[in-house]
Amino acid sequence: MTTRTTKPTPMREGAGPQGAAPRPRAEGYPAEQREAIYRVIAERRDVRRGFLPDPVPDDVLGRVLAAAHQAPSVGFSQPWDFIVITEQGRRERVAALARQRRDDYAAGLPGARARAFDQLKIESILDTPVNIAVTCDRTRGGRHTLGRHTQPRTADFSSVLAVANLWLAARAEGLGVGWVSFFDERELAAELGLPSHLEVVAYLCVGYVSEFGQEPELATSGWARRRPVTWAVHSQEYGRRGWPGEETVDQLAEVIAAIKPLDSAAVAAARERQDKMTKPRGSLGELEDVSVRLAGLAGECPPPLPEPACVAVFAGDHGVHAQGVTPWPQEVTAQMVANFLAGGAVVNAFAAQAGAEVTVVDMGVAADLDPVPGLLPRKIGRGTADFTAGPAMTRDQAYAAVTAGAEVARDLVAAGNRCLLTGDMGIANTTASAALICAFTAADPADATGRGTGIDAATYARKVDVVCRGLARHQPDPADPIGVLAAFGGFEHAAIAGFVLGAAALRVPVILDGVIAGAGALAAAALAPDAVQACFAGHRSAEPGHAIALDFMGLRPLVDLGLRLGEGTGAVLALPLVQSAARALRDVATFDSAGVADKHD
Ligand SMILES: Cc1cc2nc3c(=O)[nH]c(=O)nc-3n(C[C@H](O)[C@H](O)[C@H](O)COP(=O)(O)O)c2cc1C
Repeated sequence: MTTRTTKPTPMREGAGPQGAAPRPRAEGYPAEQREAIYRVIAERRDVRRGFLPDPVPDDVLGRVLAAAHQAPSVGFSQPWDFIVITEQGRRERVAALARQRRDDYAAGLPGARARAFDQLKIESILDTPVNIAVTCDRTRGGRHTLGRHTQPRTADFSSVLAVANLWLAARAEGLGVGWVSFFDERELAAELGLPSHLEVVAYLCVGYVSEFGQEPELATSGWARRRPVTWAVHSQEYGRRGWPGEETVDQLAEVIAAIKPLDSAAVAAARERQDKMTKPRGSLGELEDVSVRLAGLAGECPPPLPEPACVAVFAGDHGVHAQGVTPWPQEVTAQMVANFLAGGAVVNAFAAQAGAEVTVVDMGVAADLDPVPGLLPRKIGRGTADFTAGPAMTRDQAYAAVTAGAEVARDLVAAGNRCLLTGDMGIANTTASAALICAFTAADPADATGRGTGIDAATYARKVDVVCRGLARHQPDPADPIGVLAAFGGFEHAAIAGFVLGAAALRVPVILDGVIAGAGALAAAALAPDAVQACFAGHRSAEPGHAIALDFMGLRPLVDLGLRLGEGTGAVLALPLVQSAARALRDVATFDSAGVADKHD
């Protein structure tokens, strides 16, 4: 129990150990000084534009460096050094190094990202009178440096804290700071004459500026969005979101609660605009409905262009593979994941053409995957269990997989994507899809089960039988979507369900790929019927269960080319169609604006 004195005293009383007399508590700062602290934290900006040529006086620079030097450090090792660079020639050489790395980075960006990046300024090395390199000596203080012994990275963290101090002090002095990380660290270290045991932690461009932006430039340009602070705060353990003093929130329940119907005013405005556009009414067919839904989702007409776009390929293995439902060995799942990450799969080729990014999410591949850029490790288990013998996964696992899918959507939207696409990889996942589709739509297994990658008559008969046995065993209740997902899996279906929910909650369109996405979307629709409004059916797969799923959700496929590959290929092919639908609503003139006569009624 906290004991407080009622007597006003200059020192506030704090809680002592239980039963002990209260001890005085040190004062915080007076309100206006506290405000100044929070103000400098809120108004610190990474500055890249609007630098003035005015020199930075030595005393000001000295104060800022002294503030940096007061940073906390592991074991009080103070591993930083500050290299102050003003020479024009040296800055020109450093700028050339950054330019090279910038070009390398730009060359690897997909369509809309590359165009957006082109508009961004990522360094001001020559625009600022002073550059400061902050280094880290990971050996300083010797072997027994307290804390670094167990966590060597804490040396780097300490130097970063010095940067933070410098950045804040600079803001208070009216100095802009821009951090440049477009370097090969060793190249830069050589240019700065660093001994080999020193690392460059930060390269900062410092100078007076005409103004500080209200928001990060990457936010105002739409490159990325600020994540709400509540996403980052967990109570007691990771995953249990809770703001201090408030109840913990169930993340999935929160996502579902955020899913609302289309904005009716934006829908009406989009319909009206379609009817006034310089074309016969209705002549864009299904694309008119796509554009109207995009507007209703965004809550504005015209809607923003659905770009940048990112396809998330959710991968998982299936215990039902043991039933001989496919001729492909299970290892192919992991091998194809490696292929996606190396850029060698069909989805990579299509995504390159459409200007979309490919991200791979390991939801439950039955192999250890090396950490590489582009892979999100979200493994719930090493493959599901065989659903003919028991549930494919536990309810907790199904719930965790759905939540993980929603988080992936959230993260990709925060990273600046305005259109999400589903992809999948999982040998035997058409069998699980058929079972899920039967469970949600009450379809006959003989109608919903397809030939997947291409199977002979005997395998097909076995596959239908497997689906029948699964349904008979689990007696799924479509009103319990988590139970249905747990019964049949896979991890990638559950994640796709969450991905759809996450996109719908953030009112970002999600283009569905084929039968696996259809089965996952059915689960999402059962959890939140309005989520379907955020879904666009990329294509109709050759798998018969897919059409059943789409009909059930009232979705019309945009492409029908007999594809049966998965990976996200059909969704990516439809991306330009969805983008064109938005583009038409944005760019096409109306009869009035273009002075074109409308048809006589
Ligand atoms: C470790 C680190 C490296 C960064 N590298 C760059 C960079 O190379 N180029 C750039 O323009 N901004 C860089 N930034 C700035 C970030 O883009 C910026 O901090 C972020 O968008 C948030 O904006 P704010 O600092 O104005 O709040 C870097 C920031 C940090 C913390």
